[in-house]
Amino acid sequence: MGRTILVTGGAGFIGSNFVLQRIAAGDRVINLDKLTYAGNPSNLASVQHHPAHTFVQGGIEDSALVQALLRTHQPDALVNFAAESHVDRSIASPEEFIFTNLVGTFRLLNESLAYFRALSPQLQSSFRFLHVSTDEVYGSLGPTDAAFAESDPYQPSSPYSASKAGSDHLVRAYRHTYGLPTLTTNCSNNYGPYQFPEKLIPLVILNALNGKALPIYGDGLNVRDWLYVGDHCEAIAQVLDQGVPGQTYNIGGSSEMTNLDVVTTICSILDELHPEGAPHNRLITFVEDRPGHDRRYAINAAKIKRELGWQPAESFATGIRRTVEWYLANSAWIEQVTSGQYRNWIAANYEARGAK
Ligand code: NAD
Ligand code: DAU
Repeated sequence: MGRTILVTGGAGFIGSNFVLQRIAAGDRVINLDKLTYAGNPSNLASVQHHPAHTFVQGGIEDSALVQALLRTHQPDALVNFAAESHVDRSIASPEEFIFTNLVGTFRLLNESLAYFRALSPQLQSSFRFLHVSTDEVYGSLGPTDAAFAESDPYQPSSPYSASKAGSDHLVRAYRHTYGLPTLTTNCSNNYGPYQFPEKLIPLVILNALNGKALPIYGDGLNVRDWLYVGDHCEAIAQVLDQGVPGQTYNIGGSSEMTNLDVVTTICSILDELHPEGAPHNRLITFVEDRPGHDRRYAINAAKIKRELGWQPAESFATGIRRTVEWYLANSAWIEQVTSGQYRNWIAANYEARGAK
């Protein structure tokens, strides 16, 4: 029999991919998600009635609820995806980021520690608290700097990355001070099915399909290191199985690209798969930059490859094609997520930057 995992944020982009993957692998999942604008139960439609999936709507900051879930379901592990995750929203209104990412993670750690302390020594030895974090905690790289290693200092620069950095420190403190068996993963930019279209890749796919401007912040030469979401989820599962408590693991696709290259690649795939409206790159529009925009992220994933034998299965070329195909095949999902609330965000973020 598989493990029982309490997953938080499992109705979001990466969390839902993880839940689907774990259920297919034979694990049982208790899925706690607040269902903010970013959480979408339809991501989980295929496991809605699956006996191995229990969905609970609620926040990680709700200590009583978390305590009850831990007591009732006795999980072997907790994987924390729950967060406010969009950098531009953290610039526009940071408070929710501090509340969920910092206060929420703190309360989750507290309840997990109380649960852990009450376990038998045998169950204590196998329990894990895995915190899913980001490469953005390391700050921004210059063009020739070495990729981020686990030992690099934290230098977050947006309210989002600062709140994630704070949560990572709390996780570390709960390991160091109280002995909670924590694991932390710091991953680069993900893309793939079920990503909410406020982030660059799904936004560009949807805008291109609708003949709308493809907004590029600044000069388009900021660099991100892209990883297909399925590969990230596999890496998390491997860290859960084989990671050493107290350790952190960087995860990345070794796939550095400028934003302009990402957008032109999507345009070429769409020209081929959806020729209506081609050439799509005519829609590229340079708009006002993101304040404090980090220039470059790159992950050195040598540790997880060496110690746990993880390797991404997808290259950017194969993963981005799969992703474009998924969005083309899932117009009902797109229809559902691009609600009035979504349109309000798009209007607020882009009209001020000079894009319609
Ligand atoms: P997302 O915004 O798509 O999903 C976040 C989920 O968390 C949503 O389902 C939302 O409803 C839920 N949530 C928010 N606040 C909550 C709360 N207080 N209690 C319970 N649930 C809550 O995010 P994502 O892109 O899937 O990212 C998931 C995690 O991975 C985040 O912690 C993020 O920092 C990290 N991460 C993301 C990326 C990326 O490229 N997207 C890369 C590295 C790390
Ligand atoms: O690096 C990991 C991080 O990647 C995660 O921790 C975050 O949760 C996730 O949102 C992502 O952050 P980014 O800010 O890098 O992702 P985003 O898709 O918002 O932007 C990617 C790049 O594209 C970034 O340089 C900003 C730029 N961009 C973004 C949008 C939405 C544009 O040029 N135009 C846009 O419209």
